[in-house]
Amino acid sequence: MSERTCLIVLAAGESTRMASRTPKVLHRIGGGTLIGHVLTAAAVVNPARIAVVVGPGQAAVAAEVRRLAPKARIFVQKARRGTAHAVLAAKGAIKPGDDVIVVYGDTPLVRPQTLVAIREALNHAPVAVLGFRAADPAGYGRLIVEGGELVAVREDKDASPAERAIRLCNAGIMALAGKHAVKLLERIKNDNAKREFYLTDAVRIAVEEGLAATVREAPEEEVMGVNDKKQLAAAEAVLQARLRSRAQAAGATLIAPETVFLCADTKLGRDVVVEPYVVFGPGVVAEEGAVIRAFSHIEGAHIGKGASVGPFARLRPGTKLGRKAKVGNFVEVKAATLEAGAKANHLAYIGDARVGEEANIGAGVIFCNYDGVAKHRSDVGKRAFVGSNSALVAPVKIGPGAYVGSGSVITVDVPANALAVARGRQKTRRGWAKKLLAAKKRQKHGKGAKDED
Ligand code: UD1
Ligand code: MG
Repeated sequence: MSERTCLIVLAAGESTRMASRTPKVLHRIGGGTLIGHVLTAAAVVNPARIAVVVGPGQAAVAAEVRRLAPKARIFVQKARRGTAHAVLAAKGAIKPGDDVIVVYGDTPLVRPQTLVAIREALNHAPVAVLGFRAADPAGYGRLIVEGGELVAVREDKDASPAERAIRLCNAGIMALAGKHAVKLLERIKNDNAKREFYLTDAVRIAVEEGLAATVREAPEEEVMGVNDKKQLAAAEAVLQARLRSRAQAAGATLIAPETVFLCADTKLGRDVVVEPYVVFGPGVVAEEGAVIRAFSHIEGAHIGKGASVGPFARLRPGTKLGRKAKVGNFVEVKAATLEAGAKANHLAYIGDARVGEEANIGAGVIFCNYDGVAKHRSDVGKRAFVGSNSALVAPVKIGPGAYVGSGSVITVDVPANALAVARGRQKTRRGWAKKLLAAKKRQKHGKGAKDED
């Protein structure tokens, strides 16, 4: 094993089976793209170099790689001529003596420790292949082991009936020792059923040269590839199970874990309680003791200690809830901070705002943040009280301790401790309703009809 590793991610795949306009590796599970998950696992291994091979016209894939792994070099494989050909498209990234690890961009569940294990296998043989026992091996390359030694990988289309019965399959992750890597890759020919340059032929060629090859095994669910929407959902399910276990290990209580959807970056603190049917989008942190009640949808939000969210709450990006803040049912919050102890218990929209400590936002309050062209901010001071069904037309400030009467439309700043009421004055006419009713009845039934109470 060399000191330095060049990790090559192959992503020049077509996505015909995905039946999508989106490139296969940009499909998402757990909030991240397939290739993003692979790059995250790769980063843990800390390779000296990362190269990603994309297809022509896959600028969106290249952009995602640049976003997540700015140091990765991107190579374009001009024509899809096989996995070995794809690896050689990135030859420029391999420095003399680099060990080479190849992973596929559509294998998002591979764990970092497995990449470490395949790399360490190079201490035993110059070629190492990751294998798995397939429930249904059809379509996969079979690992041909003779006398305990890996001697070849036979692609499904080239395999004999006896070889097809082998369940030990190639996961598509391979390591090649620095001394031999490029030489082996360059000797691969396309003399097979698909007329492709198979990376897997590196095993047979190595063995022919008197070099050894070795296998490491991984569970099937870790190396499953995503080739269609059904497999995408299957990969999502495996990832969700992992994320739920991780959250539980960190001390979160998931009352019905199978109904809670997490993102790879969701962080739930100790004793956070998540009730059934909650969806976490990207970028959520919930601190110790927060309670997320049923049917809430949360993304890009920081939920402080002991805060309470939902049921049926929607927290959008830029939401910050301070200690013990409360966001109740049918409340939507976006780009807004509710400081410690602030409350919006029912039916409100709070956008582009700060709500000070212990302020109260009544039922049906709307922060009117958008004038049709631009967004504006509102600021509600500490312990202010905004009465039910009020509209705060931004930009506007409610001073600390101020009180807004219910049903007000506030367009002018309210000073600290003031009362603002901005609604029509109530008029009351005694006996008026009874008279009106009587007149209407007379009209309906003709003159002389008797009054009824
Ligand atoms: C490959 C393996 C097979 C293994 C299976 C595991 C080879 C020859 N076969 O088969 O042994 O059991 O994966 O899932 O390696 N790619 C390119 N350029 C190409 C061809 C492929 O970048 O010219 C990329 C694809 O985007 C994909 C990966 O390489 O990410 C694998 O290619 P794919 O065609 O899916 O190979 P399989 O037939 O699945
Ligand atoms: Mg495949």
